Amino acid sequence: MSKPPVEYTEYLQLDKILNAQSLESDKENAHAHDEMLFIIIHQAYELWFKQMHFELDSILQIMNQQMVNDNSPELQTIVHRTNRISTILKVLVHQIDILETMTPLDFYDFRDMLRPASGFQSWQFKMLEAKLGLKFEHRYGQQYYLSMLKPEYIAEIKKVEQQKTLMELLNEWLERMPFINDMELWKNYDQQFENKSALHNFWNDFSHIYENGLVEGEKQNIQVLTDLFFNEIKSEHTVLSSKAMRSALFILLYRGYPIMQAPFQIIHNLLDIDEQMATWRFRHINMVGRMIGSRVGTGGSSGKEYLRGALDKHYIFKDFATLSSFLIERKKLPKLSSELERRLGFY
Ligand code: HEM
Repeated sequence: MSKPPVEYTEYLQLDKILNAQSLESDKENAHAHDEMLFIIIHQAYELWFKQMHFELDSILQIMNQQMVNDNSPELQTIVHRTNRISTILKVLVHQIDILETMTPLDFYDFRDMLRPASGFQSWQFKMLEAKLGLKFEHRYGQQYYLSMLKPEYIAEIKKVEQQKTLMELLNEWLERMPFINDMELWKNYDQQFENKSALHNFWNDFSHIYENGLVEGEKQNIQVLTDLFFNEIKSEHTVLSSKAMRSALFILLYRGYPIMQAPFQIIHNLLDIDEQMATWRFRHINMVGRMIGSRVGTGGSSGKEYLRGALDKHYIFKDFATLSSFLIERKKLPKLSSELERRLGFY
């Protein structure tokens, strides 16, 4: 039997989507014109959240394999999809412009009818944060999380929190980066500084060059470099191990080599994701301030104060952002051995 021809309205199930807006203000016979915009904006957000989950799940599936094959197209798929997520986030930031065409007085026409509903109850948003790497113990305002969400959604988010996050999977992947430990690749490396430490000659050279480049007021950074990159002395909320931090730094320093391109792009895209999420949070806070001033949220949180805490505390890829403090000028980079250069190239 042949399949019936595909029809636009049916394919997109528009009968469901276009009939999914029921205004609380109409139910109370007090029609508020802007409530339609308010509903549609939130629905559009939730659809984009769904798409981001779809992209993220496929990335996690690749990263969850026993060994990510660095020589397969999979790494490029991760580059492509992390970029898609950050591009969606850019659109989400701009959607706030549309909602801000609603004035506070327009909002007050229906705001009270929404209590105790709140964007805080967006379990898709909470799950996105959790999949990327935000653990419950690092959440700001845990009491709201537990009191505002329905138990079945809390259970679903908890399930996600128990799985490996993207950040944890990245840690494992970075720890496996082969180049430093393969001594064959370093046999012709031209060491610059005498090595009295237990460090690999490359990292010994790097530490000296880094230290020599520090200006007054930054001198303590050499100790931070040693703690973070060599001694597993982590700051609060650091996820990456010292070994993974070294790999990530090596990728940033030598990103010009072909093999380093995809790993570099992934780190770059993740920083974009954090930046876009933070930009959204910031725009959302400003919008909230403009709409409700210092009133508490419909969900019952302290409103702006809670949101500001989440903005400060919910950066997920900050370990990668930290790397910028430990870069050195390109012209001072230790020259790699010819063996390693060949390994990092296409030939
Ligand atoms: C008039 C517009 C809006 C106002 C006044 C507003 C207000 C608030 C407030 C006060 C909170 C803190 C929790 C609470 O007590 O309710 C919150 C959280 C939240 N809102 Fe909105 N919001 C608005 C629009 C939106 C839109 C369009 C979205 C898109 C999905 C959204 C998503 C969220 C999310 C995800 C949270 C939780 C953030 C977190 O936990 O870090 N909000 N909102």
